[in-house]
Amino acid sequence: MSDPTEDKINEAVRNPRNMGEMQDADAVGTVGGADCGDMVRMWLKFGEKEGKKVIDRASFQSFGCQTAIAVASVATEMLAGKTVEEALDLSADDLSEPLGPLPPMKIHCGQMVEGALRDALAGEDESKPAVADTSAAAPGLVDQLKAPQPGKIKIVKLDEDP
Ligand code: FES
Repeated sequence: MSDPTEDKINEAVRNPRNMGEMQDADAVGTVGGADCGDMVRMWLKFGEKEGKKVIDRASFQSFGCQTAIAVASVATEMLAGKTVEEALDLSADDLSEPLGPLPPMKIHCGQMVEGALRDALAGEDESKPAVADTSAAAPGLVDQLKAPQPGKIKIVKLDEDP
C-alpha cells in the first residue's frame, strides 16, 4: 500500500506549481542546507487587498530533494493573498500541511522552505522588528539556523549573486 504523503509529494514533483524565477519580484529569499547541500530560493510579488499589503504571488526554485520541491510548490500556492504577518505566522508544518505529515528525516526540507520565505520577508513586517534585528525578540528560525548546532542539521542563508 502506498503512503499518502509520498503520493502527494510525487504528484507535486510531477506537476510543480509556481516553479521558476520571478523576473518582477519584490523580494527574494535563499537558504541552503549545509548538510544536504540543497538550496531553496523563493520570490515574492506584493500587491494590495482591502488596503493591506499582501503576497500577490510567490515562486520558487529548489536545487535538491523532491520533498523541498513539493513543499515549496504547495507553500507558494498557500501564500497567495496572505498578508506579510500571516505569512510570517506560517511554520514549516503549516507550509507542508497539504502534503500530510513529513517523515522525520524530511522535516528539514519543509524548514528550508520556511527559511527561504522568512528570508524573503525579512524587513517586510512593519509590526515587528526586522529579522536581521531580532536581538530583543525570541529567537526565530533564522536565528536558530545561524546558531551552531553540533550533530544537527544546519541550514544557512545564502547570499545573492552579485
Ligand atoms: Fe535537504 Fe530535502 S534533503 S532539503
